[in-house]
Amino acid sequence: MITGGAGFIGSHVVRLFVTKYPEYRIVNVDKLTYAGNLRSLTDIEGAPNYVFEKADIVNFEAMRELFARYDISGVIHLAAESHVDRSIADPFLFARTNVMGTLCLLQAAKEYWESRPEQYENKLFYHISTDEVYGTLELTHPEGVELPCAASGAGAHPAYGTDFFSETTKYCPHSPYSASKASADHFVRAYHDTYGLPTIVTNCSNNYGPYQFPEKLIPLFINNIRSRKPLPVYGKGENVRDWLYVEDHASAIDVVFHRGKVAETYNIGGFNEWKNIDIVKLLIRTVDRLLGRPEGADDDLITYVTDRPGHDMRYAIDASKLLRELGWAPAHRFEEGVEKTVAWYLAHQDWVDAVTDGAYVAYYEHMYTNR
Ligand code: NAD
Ligand code: TYD
Repeated sequence: MITGGAGFIGSHVVRLFVTKYPEYRIVNVDKLTYAGNLRSLTDIEGAPNYVFEKADIVNFEAMRELFARYDISGVIHLAAESHVDRSIADPFLFARTNVMGTLCLLQAAKEYWESRPEQYENKLFYHISTDEVYGTLELTHPEGVELPCAASGAGAHPAYGTDFFSETTKYCPHSPYSASKASADHFVRAYHDTYGLPTIVTNCSNNYGPYQFPEKLIPLFINNIRSRKPLPVYGKGENVRDWLYVEDHASAIDVVFHRGKVAETYNIGGFNEWKNIDIVKLLIRTVDRLLGRPEGADDDLITYVTDRPGHDMRYAIDASKLLRELGWAPAHRFEEGVEKTVAWYLAHQDWVDAVTDGAYVAYYEHMYTNR
């Protein structure tokens, strides 16, 4: 069972598992909220080892029924409300989906697996989480500092501090989104420690790539540059995020699902910190070049707007445990991943139009006023 398989990361995970593992039956469970769209999976929807089930993970009876009907032996749980700005506007929804939804799935898995003769043997509940649960790091080196050499193989971009989130960093979430994910992570661990449910948690850095709903920084800005709309940069654009190409996240999930140790936590990231403003400039250059516009033609779209409340300054993941213990490393360098992503969005305006469909209005338009 892959939950949230019609969303951004989930669609890549579903595609990878359906194509790579014909011997598995993949059940994609998704409510199809504004963020979920089956248009992201048209290439595999007819595969014989793939089933889609439209269901709400908060519906406990529906989850119990799905576990029994499909004799589920493994769960990769991605379904969630995932956008920080929306969580500021509607925290209740985030508690409902991310906390109660995870709890319903945990309990359904527990009850079903305990009812089987082989109980928890060869079972796994794998929960996908975020680095945002760790809170924020300081921007101690605004000019950038060389990465420790153990990390530098993954990418040459400098770090903006010398501390990183590791698997033992204390949880300290700041946004309603990260608080709800942290709560879900705690429930997952509690189900392992209390009932023995075989669980794994991974905490990943910011993802980018094809099929990301155009409300998150990278796809929103590609879309706006293409149609020459303002680019609302929060605050001074100095905030730092650590970016990973979505297919690299999917490959890490594959590795952890098959070789990860039960009860462990692994951080997933690419040692790839970028200031928001530098990404915005890279996106402008890339979109303009691919559209044949003169250099600098869209620089004036950058618009500094009121900062996001509680805006975390810097995220930076130490992913060396995953490299050391399971041999995973990302395959894409950022500039290459951004080029692929921009090219994909420019070639798939039909997908952008279909998923936005007039129903979506950028949240910042409601929440923040221009300076
Ligand atoms: P997304 O918002 O693109 O997709 C979420 C999916 O969950 C959608 O298909 C939606 O329809 C589905 N969903 C929402 N509520 C549901 C419900 N009640 N029942 C069933 N389905 C429901 O999210 P994403 O960016 O693909 O993130 C997937 C997971 O990875 C989330 O758990 C998120 O916290 C985590 N994560 C995301 C990132 C990132 O950068 N996007 C980074 C680290 C971790
Ligand atoms: P986002 O893609 O929402 O991911 P997250 O908040 O989970 O890290 O935002 C990435 C960074 O970009 C974050 O520092 C907020 C900033 N941002 C803007 O400056 N303007 C925007 O319109 C958006 C959506 C984000």
